Amino acid sequence: MATLTASPGVASVARTRALERAELLHRILLGIAIVAAAGAVLILAVRGFAYYSLSLEERPLSPLHSQLRSSGTIGLKLGIFSLGMFAILFLYPLRKRWRWLSAIGVTRRWLNFHILLGVTTPCIVTFHTAFRFHGLAGVAYWTMVAVALSGFVGRYVYAKIPRSLNSVALSIAELEAQTADLAGRVTGQSFFQPQDLASLLEVPTPNEIRSMGLLRALWTMLRMDLARPFQVSRLRRRALDKSQRVATLGGLLPSHNRNLESMISNVWRQSRLRMAMAFLDRTARVFHLWHVVHRPFSISFAFLILVHIAVAVSVGF
Ligand code: HEM
Repeated sequence: MATLTASPGVASVARTRALERAELLHRILLGIAIVAAAGAVLILAVRGFAYYSLSLEERPLSPLHSQLRSSGTIGLKLGIFSLGMFAILFLYPLRKRWRWLSAIGVTRRWLNFHILLGVTTPCIVTFHTAFRFHGLAGVAYWTMVAVALSGFVGRYVYAKIPRSLNSVALSIAELEAQTADLAGRVTGQSFFQPQDLASLLEVPTPNEIRSMGLLRALWTMLRMDLARPFQVSRLRRRALDKSQRVATLGGLLPSHNRNLESMISNVWRQSRLRMAMAFLDRTARVFHLWHVVHRPFSISFAFLILVHIAVAVSVGF
């Protein structure tokens, strides 16, 4: 009896399509969530401005006081809503510990939502506090702000560790294979001379990096990241005529030349990868230290919130 089995080629095309669909769905959901979050924060800011801009003495006289004070009809809902958002936000770290949860979805996509919640929730909490930061609730608030701000540093360093699609850090052998592949593509091109690419592909020597403190290494990476768009625009300008240079704002925007843009994207990726490889040890160390600081702060923050809620419930808001 004949059996119907898909050939490996067909199966891999179907898998690629499924991955593309999942990625598209993620982007759409993330986009909707970003617009909803920005909209909510904007509405609260605009509608609440008349109240939040009053002095503490004037506020009880405002008709909005019963709604927007922390324990008001809207203020309290904002607090409860933030608690729900924090519960979802904390699923990201818990996912590393709970196997059933780690089997759901892709780490990178979880992190995107963690970050969106990590930015939005403190904003919503700020409206819940009605811009008053006293006592224990104030301590919890500033701990939250510190955790959220440190999240940006964590995100920056996280991105410096090259990862697979499922966010597992790549091995040195995998990184070397990627760099060799990109180097091959860049060498075979006719747009640029090797000396044109030197400034983009140059990284400090291992000895220089070893002698750097962690902060200096971070600062050097940040400087290289900030310089890269300008180095690339200079490169693009070299390959374009006068009118194209104007149309691309001096090489800052992509041109219509697909071959040139594909080459520039290879050079860009190679530049990032070379930097990531050169600084890998330092980045891993900074990221480890970041976790060591970030985790207890997050746990203290969660604890402070629980105490704050217990106090609020016991005194009847
Ligand atoms: C108040 C808001 C936030 C809280 C309570 C929070 C909490 C946490 C916790 C508990 C972890 C796990 C730490 C560990 O496993 O050691 C974590 C990881 C992380 N968070 Fe946040 N976070 C917040 C906001 C943010 C923001 C705003 C960003 C980025 C802009 C961010 C980026 C990250 C990154 C990159 C990681 C590490 C990812 C990894 O190692 O897999 N977080 N966060």
